[in-house]
Amino acid sequence: MTLTWQTLQNLEQEYGDSFFILDLRQFENNYKDFLESFRAIYPNTNIGYSYKTNYIPKLCQTVHSMGGYAEVVSQMEYDLAIAIGVPASRIIFNGPLKQQQDIENAILAGSTVNLDCLEEVEIVTALAQRLPEKQIAVGLRCNFDIGEHRISRFGFDVAAGELDRAFKRLTEFQNCTVDGLHCHISTSSRSTESYARRTQKILELTDYYFQDKQPRFIDIGGGFFGKMTEDLRSQFDFYIPNYQEYAAAVAPQLKSRYPGNSGPELIIEPGVAIVSDVLKFAAKVVGLKTVRSRQIALVVGSIHNVKPTGTDKTLSFKIYQNDENNNKKLVGTVDIVGYTCMEHDCLYKEYSGEIAIGDYVVFENIGAYTVVFKPPFIRPNPPIISYDSILDDYSLIRRRETSQDVFSTYIL
Ligand SMILES: Cc1ncc(COP(=O)(O)O)c(C=O)c1O
Repeated sequence: MTLTWQTLQNLEQEYGDSFFILDLRQFENNYKDFLESFRAIYPNTNIGYSYKTNYIPKLCQTVHSMGGYAEVVSQMEYDLAIAIGVPASRIIFNGPLKQQQDIENAILAGSTVNLDCLEEVEIVTALAQRLPEKQIAVGLRCNFDIGEHRISRFGFDVAAGELDRAFKRLTEFQNCTVDGLHCHISTSSRSTESYARRTQKILELTDYYFQDKQPRFIDIGGGFFGKMTEDLRSQFDFYIPNYQEYAAAVAPQLKSRYPGNSGPELIIEPGVAIVSDVLKFAAKVVGLKTVRSRQIALVVGSIHNVKPTGTDKTLSFKIYQNDENNNKKLVGTVDIVGYTCMEHDCLYKEYSGEIAIGDYVVFENIGAYTVVFKPPFIRPNPPIISYDSILDDYSLIRRRETSQDVFSTYIL
């Protein structure tokens, strides 16, 4: 996408002075490249796209049209998948809080439900008892040590015998089966070694628990790094693996354990890996001031739009200027700040260069955990515009929120 100041101004005139730009073709390419890296080694691989990472419906529809699963962690996301036409059988329902009705409906509709705790096992066994003529299958999320400092809170603690307890309890019922194992372990280094380790562990567990019949699926979760700009990459003091390197850490282990073409389905659940570089955020510069020696540029955006998770990384961005602009400007070191009343609302600290009223600041690589994470703090959400690089066309896919939208659930 080649942006210019003029394009941004045209978009502003149509949609307002701050907006997200979604590159759907980039998403499709990432999806294909990521999947192909795994399929080249282990063909029976599929993607379950992590809705929570960015559930813009256009992205979710693209995943469905490309044959992927919807990986959801709440009834809200489950409802979205159904609303955009994903059949229940193409939904994987994970997450720590699934309520009785949600679990029952999802199982009976044919979704893959990966249980997280013994309370959920009890919900499933009660269902199995109530409906003895129904065959009920679930997956179990495993929690094992892969040498990380943090102890994950998710899934059944394998070492303490919780996974065993879940298996035993479920298989007390003739109409109940476990048809696959799941794990998702988020680590800060997202290293290939950690993926090799989790794959080895989950294969050991499937060998132990599926001696009579191979599992339908093995799901190793998400948490992989995606593509990044060079200045973002340079802020990590460890290596950032690419898609092929992740695939090489995982897929050969399945291939050697299940030679031939009839092994279980390998499910990978990328969010960040395929969505981080598909969204940009553009905000107009509307104010400039100097307070003692601090130079400040105010934009129509907030840190909540670009890094609501509070990451300590400095974002990649570009400033688009109008060459004919004679507006007020600042030159030197400038903090680019947002519209909230919080002192920490600084989208970029110590930018060095020139910035003028009427410029657009465009932040890149902000596809993951942004639009889904932003609270309605101080200003309603900006619109999302989709860019089609083949047609070279922009179209609105989420309108700008209004004050009424924000207050519509309150009883006034
Ligand atoms: C179960 C599950 N799968 C997939 C993901 C996606 O992770 P990421 O966006 O880091 O790839 C998450 C994120 O927390 C998750 O909890």
